[in-house]
Amino acid sequence: MTDKLKIAVIGAGTMGRGIVQLFAQAGHRVHCFDSFEGAAGKAVEFVVGMIGRGVEKGRLDADEFERIRGQIHAAETMQDLADCNVLIEAIVEDLEAKRALFRSLEAVVSPEAILASNTSSLVVAEIAAACAHPQRVAGLHFFNPVPLMKVAEVIAAVRTAPAVVTALRDLVAGAGHRAVVAADQPGFLVNHAGRGLYTEGLRLLEEQSASVDQIDLVLREAAGFRMGPFELLDLTGLDVSSKVMSSIYEQFQQEPRFRPSSLVPPRVAAGLFGRKTGQGWYAYEGDARQVPPTAPVPALPTGLEVWVAPEAAERDALKTLVEAAGAQWVERPTPEALLIVQPWGGDATGEAVALGLDAARCVAIDPLPGLGRHRTLMLTVATAPAMRDAAHALCAHDGVGVTVINDSPGFIVQRVLATVVNIAAQIAQRGIASVEDIEDAVKLGLGYPQGPLSWGDRIGGARVLAILRRMQAVTGDPRYRPSPWLERRVALGLSLRTAEAARR
Ligand SMILES: NC(=O)c1ccc[n+]([C@@H]2O[C@H](COP(=O)([O-])OP(=O)(O)OC[C@H]3O[C@@H](n4cnc5c(N)ncnc54)[C@H](O)[C@@H]3O)[C@@H](O)[C@H]2O)c1
Repeated sequence: MTDKLKIAVIGAGTMGRGIVQLFAQAGHRVHCFDSFEGAAGKAVEFVVGMIGRGVEKGRLDADEFERIRGQIHAAETMQDLADCNVLIEAIVEDLEAKRALFRSLEAVVSPEAILASNTSSLVVAEIAAACAHPQRVAGLHFFNPVPLMKVAEVIAAVRTAPAVVTALRDLVAGAGHRAVVAADQPGFLVNHAGRGLYTEGLRLLEEQSASVDQIDLVLREAAGFRMGPFELLDLTGLDVSSKVMSSIYEQFQQEPRFRPSSLVPPRVAAGLFGRKTGQGWYAYEGDARQVPPTAPVPALPTGLEVWVAPEAAERDALKTLVEAAGAQWVERPTPEALLIVQPWGGDATGEAVALGLDAARCVAIDPLPGLGRHRTLMLTVATAPAMRDAAHALCAHDGVGVTVINDSPGFIVQRVLATVVNIAAQIAQRGIASVEDIEDAVKLGLGYPQGPLSWGDRIGGARVLAILRRMQAVTGDPRYRPSPWLERRVALGLSLRTAEAARR
C-alpha cells in the first residue's frame, strides 16, 4: 500500500497536526477533522505554515509547496472522510470517546478502510472491540513532535489482520519514519523500554542515595543519556507522567519492575508538574532550569596513602591517577590509607565488610563508566569526612567531574543501565517486539545513545547479570530479578541480540 492514499486524521491537536504534516509531505492527500468547530481549519493553516518554513529555508521549492498545500483539507463533517483509505485517530485519550469515534467512522467509511489509533496508554483491542470489523483496527503510535521523531509503533492488537500491520508499516516507512511493530501490551515498546530510567531514578532518590541534580548529572555525563529522569519528568509534566507510571504498573498486574514511587503523588497534589508550572523537581526561571551549584573540590591532603582492592576493575588506571596526583600508592591497607573498592551491583558498606576493611576509610568508585568519564564516589555509612574529601580531591585531580553519593547498591549508572537492559530483555522474551525493532525504537524514540540490548552486550551480559543478582540480593526486591532472556544468553555466551531459535 505504498501508492498515494487518502488519509484522514481525526483530532487536530498537537499530534494530529504533526501526523497531517508528515503524510502530506510524503505526497498523500490528507483530510483533517476535529469535533471542535474551526479546529480543523486552524490546524490546516498551522501545518501549511510549518511546511512553508521549508520554502523559506530553501529545502522545498514553491511549486512543490503549492502541490502539498493543495493536498491538505479541513473536513467539515465526518461524511467528508467517507472515501479515505486510512483513518488515524488522535483525539482525547479517553476509551469511551475513542470507541464512539471508531463506531461512527465505521458507519461512514468503506469496509476495506484501515482505522488506526494514536493512543499511548489504552489497550488497542478495547477500542477495536467497539467495531464491527476489529481486524481492520490497529494502533499507530507517533511521538511528539511527529515530523522530527522519526519512529512510529504499529500496534498489532489481538484481532488485527496481518495485512493491516503490513500496510501501516509501509505507510510509515514511505513517509521516511522507521516503523516498528509492537504487541498490544502496556506502554507498547518505547514507553515500556523507557521505564527503567524513571523507576530507578526515583528509587535512588527515595533511598536518599543522591539528589535530583546529582542523579541527572551522573546519568548524562557518565552514562550518556541525553537527559536524566528528573529533567525528563519536568519536561513531560509530572501530572501526565504519574498517570503513565501508575497505568503501566497496574496493566502489568503490579509487576514490581514498574512499581511507582510514593514520592510522586504528593508532588502531583501540590502542582509541582515541572516546566509548565515553573516548579517541578527543579525550579524554573522562564525556560532556565535552576541547578544547585556542585560541591567545591576539596584540597588533596599531603602524604595521602591510597590502597585499591586487588579485584577493582580500574586498579591500573587508579594507580596512574594516584601517582599523577602525588599521593602514595600502597600495596596493603595501612592504618592511615584511603581504601578504594569497586563493587558490581553491591553497596560500599557491604563491600567493606566483605573484604574486612575499615569502613570509616573506605570509598567506592563506580567501575562501569570507566575512569575516563564523570566519576561517582559512593560512601559507606561510616566513611569519615576526611576520607570522603581525600577521595573527592584525588578523583577530581585530573579535571574529570566527580559526584559523591551515599551508599546505594549499584551506584547510579550500574543500577539504571542494568535495569534498562533487563527490561529490554524481558520485552524481547515476551515477544512484544523483535530485537531489531527494540534496538531502533529505543534509539529513535527515547534518544538513548545505543539500543538497550547492544548496550548490554557492550557492558557484558555476564556483568549485567551479576549486577542484577547482587542488587536483588542486597535489596531483596524482586524488581531486579533477571529476565530469562538475559540468563540464557549469558549461560551460552551469546549476544543479548540473539533471537529465539524458532523465530530465526
Ligand atoms: N501529546 C503527546 O506527546 C502524545 C504523544 C503520543 C500519543 N499521544 C496521544 O495522541 C492523542 C492526542 O493527543 P494530543 O496531545 O494531540 O491531544 P490534544 O488535546 O492536543 O488534541 C486533541 C484534539 O482532539 C479533538 N477531539 C477531542 N475529541 C474529539 C472527537 N470525539 N472527535 C474529533 N475530535 C476530537 C480536540 O478538539 C483536540 O483538538 C491522545 O490519544 C494521546 O494520548 C499524545
